[in-house]
Amino acid sequence: MIIVNTIDELQKALIAHRKSGNRIGFVPTMGNLHQGHLSLVEKAKTLSDVIVVSIFVNPTQFGPNEDFDSYPRTFDNDCEQLKSQQADIVFAPNVEEVYPGFAQNKARPNLTRVHVDELGKNHCGASRPGHFDGVTTIVSKLFNMVRPDVAVFGQKDFQQLAIIRRMVKDLNIPVEIIGAPILREDNGLAMSSRNGYLSQEEKDQAAAIYRTLQWAKKQLEEHALSFDLVEQNAAQQLTDQGFRVDYFNISQADSLKVAETSDTDLVILAAAFLGKVRLIDNLTVQL
Ligand code: PAJ
Repeated sequence: MIIVNTIDELQKALIAHRKSGNRIGFVPTMGNLHQGHLSLVEKAKTLSDVIVVSIFVNPTQFGPNEDFDSYPRTFDNDCEQLKSQQADIVFAPNVEEVYPGFAQNKARPNLTRVHVDELGKNHCGASRPGHFDGVTTIVSKLFNMVRPDVAVFGQKDFQQLAIIRRMVKDLNIPVEIIGAPILREDNGLAMSSRNGYLSQEEKDQAAAIYRTLQWAKKQLEEHALSFDLVEQNAAQQLTDQGFRVDYFNISQADSLKVAETSDTDLVILAAAFLGKVRLIDNLTVQL
């Protein structure tokens, strides 16, 4: 496994692979890797000949009051895990490599931004203004740097995955996007770099998000309550268990719009704060 920090080094490392027609698989990450990230690498390996993993904490997708500065950075440990997982290339650029002039202009390091309309309006898009523009912009930039044949993203970030799929379709970006299942702790808590902010007690408490999603799914499958009542009841359950609920939404799985009673392909999306830590999770439902 090699570690490269510049776009130039990355291109050089990939030349021979491109020439010999090897399929390039790509897993973009912000580091602080856990089994969820590693499962994406595993998936990418089944689909390609050479695996590039990027580690870059992207400043433009964090809001002014979010955790960009304190986001966990564990580069050496990440590289060890990636080596065991047999990744081939780790691309870990610094912020100036990705956004030249960032130090002088933190607010607008790029004059160009990629914006996907509609899909980014609800859910996390509503509570984190600008977040998805930051994501789509960095992912487009990384796609242009790596030029992968296939890229793997987690369903953990359901809305992010939907937005990236749409961006790739709308902009004819020549990459295949693969979604991979959510990896969970034994208690059901979705693995996340932000779980590291939680104490063991809070991790046990946080598993309530998944239990509540499962409860909601059951109500939908049994047609027990209206969508509105399921949402309200689930949000109340989480509030009663010490969460500050950001949203608990039953949506159409493809458009991410509010679901109608006649819809059959659904996703339940949840975001809730436990103390200062914002956790997200989701569950798909077919009726
Ligand atoms: P990050 O949060 O590091 O996540 C990198 C990838 O890992 C994403 O595709 C995410 O959905 C996936 N992932 C996270 N937790 C997972 C879990 N428990 N199971 C399966 N997959 C999981 O998402 C980002 O970084 C950034 O927004 C990025 C796309 C890299 C752009 O900066």
